[in-house]
Amino acid sequence: MSELNLILLGPPGSGKGTQGERLQEDFRLPYYATGDILRAAVRDETELGRIAKEYMDRGDLVPDGVIIGVIGERVEGEEAADGFILDGFPRTVGQAEALGEEMDKLDRSITAALLIDVSDDEVVRRLGGRRTCAKNGHIFHVDFDPPKNEGICDVCGARLIVRDDDKPDVIRHRLDTYHEKTSPLVDFYEERGVLKRVDGELDPDEVGNRIRALLATLRLEEEL
Ligand code: AP5
Repeated sequence: MSELNLILLGPPGSGKGTQGERLQEDFRLPYYATGDILRAAVRDETELGRIAKEYMDRGDLVPDGVIIGVIGERVEGEEAADGFILDGFPRTVGQAEALGEEMDKLDRSITAALLIDVSDDEVVRRLGGRRTCAKNGHIFHVDFDPPKNEGICDVCGARLIVRDDDKPDVIRHRLDTYHEKTSPLVDFYEERGVLKRVDGELDPDEVGNRIRALLATLRLEEEL
C-alpha cells in the first residue's frame, strides 16, 4: 500500500488510544491524538490549552475552528508524507469535511476509518477504571490491563493519574456528545466506502489482531 492514512473512530473509552499505540509501533507512522495534543496544551498553559480547558472539563468538544488548524498543519507536514494515524479527529461532520478538503488539496485520500464499536455500559466500566501516565499518556486499566506496580507507569515509571474528564457525570456527558456530534461520521465514512468496523469489546490483543487483519486485507485488495 503506497501510504496508510488512518482514522480511529469510536466512543470515548472504546480503545482508540490503546490500539493507536499498537498501530504506531506496527507501522512506524506519526500518531496524532487530539485529546493528547489538547491535554499537553492545557498542561503547558498555551493559548490553545487556555481555550480548550473549559470545554474538556465539561466533556464538550472544543470548537471546530480551534482544532481543525491543529491537525491540518500536522497532516500536511513532512513527517506525515507516508501516512498518519488520527485518533479523536475528526469528531464532527465539519471536521471530517475539512479533513477531506485537506486530503484533496494534497492529492491524497483516507485509507480507512476504523470504527471501534463498544456499548455505552462498557464505556462507563472502562473509563471508571482507566489510569493514565502523567508524563507520556500510556494507558492502563485497574482490572483489564493493570500496571505491574500500582500507580506507576510500566513504560516510563511516571505516576499514573485519573483524567479530570473520567469522572462519572462527565463520562455520561461525553457519551451524549459522541452520539450527537460524532456518530454521524459512521454514515459519512460508510458512504465514502472507507468505514471498517471492529468489535471493540474483545480483549485488547484480539482487537489489535483484527485491525491488523483488516489492514492486511486492504493491502491485498490494492495489489489485485
Ligand atoms: P480524547 O482524549 O480523544 O478522549 P475520548 O475520545 O473521549 O477517548 P478516550 O481517550 O477517553 O478513550 P479511548 O478510546 O482512547 O480509549 P482508551 O484506549 O484510553 O478527548 C478528550 C477531550 O478533548 C474531548 O472530550 C474534547 O473535549 C477534546 N477533543 C479531543 N479531540 C477533539 C476534536 N477532534 N474536536 C473537538 N474536541 C476534541 O481505553 C479506555 C480504557 O479501557 C483504558 O483504561 C484501557 O486500558 C481500557 N481498554 C482499552 N481497550 C480495551 C479492551 N479491548 N478491553 C478492555 N479494556 C480496554
